[in-house]
Amino acid sequence: MHDRFSGVAEAAAREAGHLIRERIGRAREVGEKTSNVDLVTEVDKQSEAVIRTELLAAFPEHKILGEEGVAPGSAASAEALNKALSAEYLWIVDPIDGTTNFVHGLPGCTVSIALAHRGEVIVGVIYDPLRDEMFTASRNQGAFLNGTPISVSKEDNLGVSLLATGFPGDKEWAREVNLRGMVALSPICRNIRAIGSAALHLAYVACGRLSGFWEIDLNAWDMAAGSLLVQEAGGTVTNTAGVDYSLDVRHIAASNGLIHTELIRALKQSDATGL
Ligand code: IPD
Ligand code: CA
Ligand code: CA
Ligand code: CA
Repeated sequence: MHDRFSGVAEAAAREAGHLIRERIGRAREVGEKTSNVDLVTEVDKQSEAVIRTELLAAFPEHKILGEEGVAPGSAASAEALNKALSAEYLWIVDPIDGTTNFVHGLPGCTVSIALAHRGEVIVGVIYDPLRDEMFTASRNQGAFLNGTPISVSKEDNLGVSLLATGFPGDKEWAREVNLRGMVALSPICRNIRAIGSAALHLAYVACGRLSGFWEIDLNAWDMAAGSLLVQEAGGTVTNTAGVDYSLDVRHIAASNGLIHTELIRALKQSDATGL
């Protein structure tokens, strides 16, 4: 059954990815949600509609939680997740992760689709249409990039680790917290990237391009698929204080596992957990 779930999600992600490839940098309607750093375009909405149609055609009894179907702001999204979690099968969809990149014509726009069964993520698909890279994972069945098995990297200390983080879209406090983390980590790691798609950061941790990733104040749709990818690729996913990942986590730390303790310690010591 996992194969069927994953196959349908991949097909939906490819269809949505086609829209992203065609319209990147050329959105016609750029709207602001909570502020001028929290954007939505007509393509975000179209992408979500395409994915919904595909998923419901295959699984009419399943529920869908998609970013653009939820009122803006973190309180509303936490509430929507809470309600949606009562569903037996819940698809969690980010139709474009990296809308700011999309609007500005930069790479780093992905489609992220996860399926949770009774609150546990069992399938995760992240598609980068600009590189035609399809990341997939099913619980206890490993993680793959374009069908080839992937695993996390082997760096065992922060000094040789390439990390990533991101700047949340709608909260000044979260950006401030994140900067404290960057100030603490930047002198003790190899370098830090902020590509602008949390899902892509997680996929890159899963395939070993990045050693670790953390970010404050994300939503379930940013992390659900990527968290399974990292776990299935042999990595560790927790909140920023080191507690195991679950769908209600908002502040995430994901890594190859070998640097996880050091990463969490640095975040805690610099008051950068957001908790
Ligand atoms: C955003 C991206 C970005 C992260 C923001 C998210 P969106 O998602 O994942 O990397 O820093 O916090 O909101 O709005 O482009 O789907
Ligand atoms: Ca958004
Ligand atoms: Ca997102
Ligand atoms: Ca989005």
